[in-house]
Amino acid sequence: MNINRFLCSLFCIVMVLPDLSYALSQDNVSEELTSLYRAARKVISVNQGHINKEDIGDKGLSGETVTAMALENYSQATGKALVMDNLTSAQKAMLSAVREVMDENQDLINEKGVGFKGFLPAIFARQLATNFNGKMSGKMKIKLTAPKSYVRNRSNRPDKWEHNIIENMFKKSDYPKGKPFSEQSEVKGKSAYRFILPEYYGQSCLACHGEPKGERDISGGKKEGGVLGELGGAISIIIYQ
Ligand code: HEC
Repeated sequence: MNINRFLCSLFCIVMVLPDLSYALSQDNVSEELTSLYRAARKVISVNQGHINKEDIGDKGLSGETVTAMALENYSQATGKALVMDNLTSAQKAMLSAVREVMDENQDLINEKGVGFKGFLPAIFARQLATNFNGKMSGKMKIKLTAPKSYVRNRSNRPDKWEHNIIENMFKKSDYPKGKPFSEQSEVKGKSAYRFILPEYYGQSCLACHGEPKGERDISGGKKEGGVLGELGGAISIIIYQ
């Protein structure tokens, strides 16, 4: 290799490496945060039957307890525990959001004499996202969204970028299951790193999102007619620069 070629390659490496390592670290931040978000939501799915009980008052799901359970789920899912005195500001915000949202919902979930209370994983996830996004004051955002045709709550609608990835990548039969997609992009004219993770219907989802399409589920909403393993949602993260 002559010297010019060598210098040229060196230049390229020096130019590309920071971008690459930036992308990798943003991916890490996003992956850790989606894992924590899902770990918290899982506490609600696992306890759905308990929350729906009519004859029990206090369900024992305080903000503090649910935070502890979410951390346990996180360790199990990722194989590593979060170190409490070494949390990122996003992780801190997510954990306080879990605590606050659960504390706010105590009267609802502890009401005796009511079975189904409308407190579901997706509703908890939406409240969690709203609280978290407020705490991050425009630096970072998280959202639970879904394929456009499946969205029940308008505030969960995918934006153009999310819609495009869901329809043209995640829904393709050869797209690797569960693989997130991320890229440097723009949101409303602002430079941002975007990350999106696909999620699929499991058996437990189909009571509400399955067949027959259009039939009312326990929440009063219309079933989507989804099938086992089908793409049912996505968790989307925006990190503003
Ligand atoms: C008891 C009924 C029920 C079950 C079970 C259920 N969901 Fe939902 N789901 C809902 C309702 C109701 C909403 C609307 C929530 C809101 O208002 O934000 C929703 C919303 C969602 C959303 C957000 C997009 C939208 O439609 O607004 C996703 C994604 C989702 N569900 C996925 C799942 C998955 C995956 C499972 C299984 C792990 C599941 N749901 C289990 C009732 C249910």
